[in-house]
Amino acid sequence: MAETASAGASQPSHPKLTGRAFYESIGSPKVIVAPMVDRSEFAWRLLTRSYLDKERSKSMLAYSPMFHARLFKDSARFRDDHFQPTKSSLASTEKSPSPPWLDGNPKFDRPLFVQFCANKPEELLEAARYVAPYCDAVDLNLGCPQGIARSGHYGAFLQEDWDTIYKLINTLHKELSIPVTAKMRILETREKTLEYAKMILSAGASILTVHGRQREQKGHKTGLADWSAIRYLRDNLPLETVLFANGNILNSGDIETCLAATGADGIMSAEGNLADPTIFSEPPKEHDPRQYWYGRDGKGGYRLDAVFRRYLDIIYKYCLEQDPPVRAPLYIPGDPKTGDDTPQPILVEEEEDEGPKRKKRKRNVQESVGPSPNLKSMQAHLFQLLRPMLAQHTDIRDTLAKTKSGEVAKFEKILSMVEAAVRKGLDQDHEPSASQPADVDADAETATALPSAGENTPENAAESTPRQKTEAIYKRPWWVCQPYIRPLPEEAIEKGSLQLSKKELKARMAAQEREAAEAEAEKKAEAETKAEAEVKAEAIEAKADHPNPIPNQRNGVDGTTDRPEHKHTSPVDVNGNVNGSEQPLGPDPTTASGELPNPKAGLVCG
Ligand SMILES: Cc1cc2nc3c(=O)[nH]c(=O)nc-3n(C[C@H](O)[C@H](O)[C@H](O)COP(=O)(O)O)c2cc1C
Repeated sequence: MAETASAGASQPSHPKLTGRAFYESIGSPKVIVAPMVDRSEFAWRLLTRSYLDKERSKSMLAYSPMFHARLFKDSARFRDDHFQPTKSSLASTEKSPSPPWLDGNPKFDRPLFVQFCANKPEELLEAARYVAPYCDAVDLNLGCPQGIARSGHYGAFLQEDWDTIYKLINTLHKELSIPVTAKMRILETREKTLEYAKMILSAGASILTVHGRQREQKGHKTGLADWSAIRYLRDNLPLETVLFANGNILNSGDIETCLAATGADGIMSAEGNLADPTIFSEPPKEHDPRQYWYGRDGKGGYRLDAVFRRYLDIIYKYCLEQDPPVRAPLYIPGDPKTGDDTPQPILVEEEEDEGPKRKKRKRNVQESVGPSPNLKSMQAHLFQLLRPMLAQHTDIRDTLAKTKSGEVAKFEKILSMVEAAVRKGLDQDHEPSASQPADVDADAETATALPSAGENTPENAAESTPRQKTEAIYKRPWWVCQPYIRPLPEEAIEKGSLQLSKKELKARMAAQEREAAEAEAEKKAEAETKAEAEVKAEAIEAKADHPNPIPNQRNGVDGTTDRPEHKHTSPVDVNGNVNGSEQPLGPDPTTASGELPNPKAGLVCG
């Protein structure tokens, strides 16, 4: 499907592609960095892209953070503070004659979609025209669930205002030179969600991202995303509709699982990507232990010190336009010892002793790039990236907490602290006596040793809590990138960090009562089956003692019962009579291992 763009600023002479034709024209991306306020800025996108080889990088798309359309169109300062496609100010909606710089640079930051929140079509259009020359599509945020979105009437709080949503999307569809896309949350029912999606698509959205959580699922209530709701959309929308699935992608293994479960064209990751910017990549083709670590169980991951270095190098090279410091190669066990465990970073300035020098560096940073969005987000990124190690290495956490944006020398110092810590961790792990890595969860609340390969057995898994099961799959030692496993709402309630409203409490109590009744019924059924099994055993014994058993007088001459529920499901009747082996029995209720099947497991299969 191709359309010609209507008149407007920055209109290209070639026809505007929409829908699947547009999707294919940008390389049919399969993996997508989510829009994230203060997090999906240029440097982070480039870091994520840098872990994909050339071929695979074509199939990665990234979204900018969400920008407020009215502020963006009204304020040159706001635009410059958030979006830097050229070094000159974004003064007009015409493409700047200045050379490309960071955001949307065709050499290294495409495909890129820029996201806005808005509730007035003309504001959205004007803001979109500023960015159109530097990106591939403009996305409308329909998912933000925060209080600020409620008071500003945008994001997920437009969900009840379909007319406005239609106008917002349709205006861009008709007036903007590049396609418009939208990112929505699921609604209370699948049917309603489908209707909603159809409305958004009918307004002209070329791609629809579906976050499989409802508006209420935020903070401690985030919980799991519902992929089956996305599948329902896939099955009920025309095949040419391009869908991205969002939610629950914790590591690279989840990508194919999600694509298969939802039938979506691509998957989008936010928190998984923040915790592990290598999430979309494969292990390096040629093993480089200074970059990638393998455990004894064959599982591995990119080293935190290596990822941190690469991130800092991007900041130096692209945002500060200076060479990164020359540093010694990252440590691997077996490297010659220097006598000093702490690698000394080059060009690190000590803030207390070298005031004038530090001031000079700081001033340089401010002068050369202004209030760069890339520098502003560094501390927050590092807290998320380094989370696995911070609970244990509190010195690193405290130094990071005191580091302000733009203090690049301090970040360099933190890098050297991280390198030293990783070095110790690797050495401990390498010691022959180390049966399992010296590892403590990032999260002080959940400090646990990692399961060794042998511990992670299905039998153990059966006794584990959902969180332990998830950790057994995803956790790595603290020196390796890994996802943050967010506690489920149930766990948050237990810990007291989530308070329920009266309505929610009532619903929860009703659910608990239902579960208790089910558990009681299950227990009863188990007791009955056990009793039957005992009777069966006794009967077998008796049969061995008396090869020609005397028919049970109470049940008639053949000794069988006529109670239908037992006739075909149990090898013994209620009175303990063994049905003759010549009689066809119903399916054996025991599994191959002799365990009784879990009635709930049956429900899952069904
Ligand atoms: C720090 C952060 C900032 C976010 N900012 C935005 C945003 O600007 N626009 C948006 O549509 N969603 C935003 N989101 C939501 C994510 O894009 C995504 O829909 C959500 O986190 C679910 O994906 P996940 O399970 O992979 O984290 C943000 C999420 C996080 C964690």
